[in-house]
Amino acid sequence: MNCPVLEGVRLNTPAHVRHARLIEWVAQIAALTEAESVYWCDGSTEEYDRLCAQLVAAGTFTKLNPQLRPNSYLARSSPSDVARVEDRTFICSERKEDAGPTNNWMAPAEMRELLQTGRPDGTPALFRGAMRGRTMYVVPFSMGPLGSPIAHIGVELSDSPYVAVNMKIMTRMGRDVLDVLGSDGHFVPCVHTVGAPLQPGQKDVAWPCNETKYIVHYPETQEIWSYGSGYGGNALLGKKCFALRIASTMGRDQGWLAEHMLILGVESPEGRKHHIAAAFPSACGKTNFAMLIPPAGLPGWKVTTIGDDIAWIKPGLDGRLYAINPEAGYFGVAPGTNDKTNPNCMACLERDTIFTNVALTDDGDVWWEGMTDTPPAHLIDWQGRDWTPEIGRDTGAKAAHPNARFTVAATNNPALDPAWDDAAGVPIDAFVFGGRRSTTVPLVTEARDWVEGVYMAATMGSETTAAAGGKQGVVRRDPFAMLPFVGYNMSDYFQHWLDLGRKLQNAGATLPKIYCVNWFRKGPDGKFVWPGYGENMRVLKWMVERVEGEAQGVENAFGVTPRYEDLTWTGLDFNREQFQHVDSIETDAWKTELALHAELFQQLAYHLPRELTDTKAKIEARLSA
Ligand code: GTP
Ligand code: SPV
Ligand code: MN
Repeated sequence: MNCPVLEGVRLNTPAHVRHARLIEWVAQIAALTEAESVYWCDGSTEEYDRLCAQLVAAGTFTKLNPQLRPNSYLARSSPSDVARVEDRTFICSERKEDAGPTNNWMAPAEMRELLQTGRPDGTPALFRGAMRGRTMYVVPFSMGPLGSPIAHIGVELSDSPYVAVNMKIMTRMGRDVLDVLGSDGHFVPCVHTVGAPLQPGQKDVAWPCNETKYIVHYPETQEIWSYGSGYGGNALLGKKCFALRIASTMGRDQGWLAEHMLILGVESPEGRKHHIAAAFPSACGKTNFAMLIPPAGLPGWKVTTIGDDIAWIKPGLDGRLYAINPEAGYFGVAPGTNDKTNPNCMACLERDTIFTNVALTDDGDVWWEGMTDTPPAHLIDWQGRDWTPEIGRDTGAKAAHPNARFTVAATNNPALDPAWDDAAGVPIDAFVFGGRRSTTVPLVTEARDWVEGVYMAATMGSETTAAAGGKQGVVRRDPFAMLPFVGYNMSDYFQHWLDLGRKLQNAGATLPKIYCVNWFRKGPDGKFVWPGYGENMRVLKWMVERVEGEAQGVENAFGVTPRYEDLTWTGLDFNREQFQHVDSIETDAWKTELALHAELFQQLAYHLPRELTDTKAKIEARLSA
């Protein structure tokens, strides 16, 4: 092959790798980053165990008590590296307009100088020598079932073994992927470094990273370059970077959708099955909704998980939309998860799990806020410090970071749908969009048609969470729960949804219904009024029955909402007054809300579809009537 040895770096290319372009690229990146060695991941269990043992030896992982939490580990990140960094995330399209007003943009040539080639003034490139003293892992992965026509392959080069083991759980990773790639298959190149080169003899830290961070996408050449962070979506490049930002541009060009959506199956007591795809912003309930267990008051209903975070959705030959989950695992929020709110999730986490930034108990197990009502008397917190309930009370310090997460294989989920990795996908009957709103937005609304649904999704607001750096709890517009994840101009993305709907409708298809939900309205005491979690089944049941043309509702200014008597209340003590609190539509609040829609539309004026401004005018007219 071209470069078996390069500047003293052995590429260690296994004999089964036949892809010359891949080998050449690996050689180039090894040369640029001056990695000390190169290791090609085969994706085996033996390799996973070996890398985890290595992470334990390095102090990155603590092995949990195998009696309590078999085959599981705890990682503590640097306190400066705990979440996605939206302000450091860039879409480097050739034209600024193609990134649009909601994305950070830099010209590709300028970004390449910064990252890869160095500046004319002599400033060295950030990736130059960035992996010095470290092993570069070659991580081949498939998003979607291996070898299926809808799957896409990526190769991540990373100097983080933490990334390698997480990618093993989150994707189909390893040698099989290289076999599918063959000698000239297409792959998305993903380069990742923690940006912490080691001098000879320098001791490593438990969580290497860099204060400087760049999460960079080149949509035209379909490349991802990530610098300085080892955490979640910043570093596991198959997830948000590939499966959403790059894939959304593929979908725009090829007529499909890449969405920040869970996919669930719901079966009625009569055995009728429907599939729902639901978009909620980060840390707003996707994993929980995807694993919902219906309450005892609704016997015979059953919910199964196809995916918990990302959906790729394509029109089928029959004109319906089919969704697949491109991932193979869950990278989910730990705090708030417990045996009452999400027993399926707790069952997933009984074994084979990597926990990041949760607290450690004295007997070598994990704990986080909301796991039990009473915290253990002593813990080691997510920063490795002693923690007691008294310390928590006096200082406000949390034992687990609010964005503490678990990484676990989908196959650990007792509610996994039999079709979860079916290459054909599942037909979608309804789309749901939901934000975290303590006021204004009602429990559930059905759009009267596709355009009204697109309007609802496009104008959705949500209170910010710990899943991303920056202020928390501020309402921001998060169109389609995709604000941080659309790899192109947001208005063009709206147009893409409208075009797809029109195309399917013209072909005679029945489009999925579109709903807007809000589990998070609060009362005067600051507490959530709606019980949420499993009780969300009551709303899901109404939606499914609407799809079937059975359940009733009443028209309001922007859609159809159920009356109290239109939902099933068996087994739940929730009175009309409480329902009124979560389902009411207050004219004044909505006038304020529409002013925020106007602000959004002003920001997105370039290429904003006329249908959306027309829909807004109609809602305003109805509100004033
Ligand atoms: P990402 O992985 O960041 O995309 O998050 P997600 O959308 O999957 O959110 P997840 O289901 O992990 O929930 C995030 C937080 O919201 C957790 O603390 C949950 O306990 C809480 N949550 C989820 N569903 C509900 C609900 O119905 N009601 C209330 N009150 N809280 C909820
Ligand atoms: C999100 O923030 O929406 C996540 C977690 O799902 S991360 O993988 O970090 O993006
Ligand atoms: Mn997410």
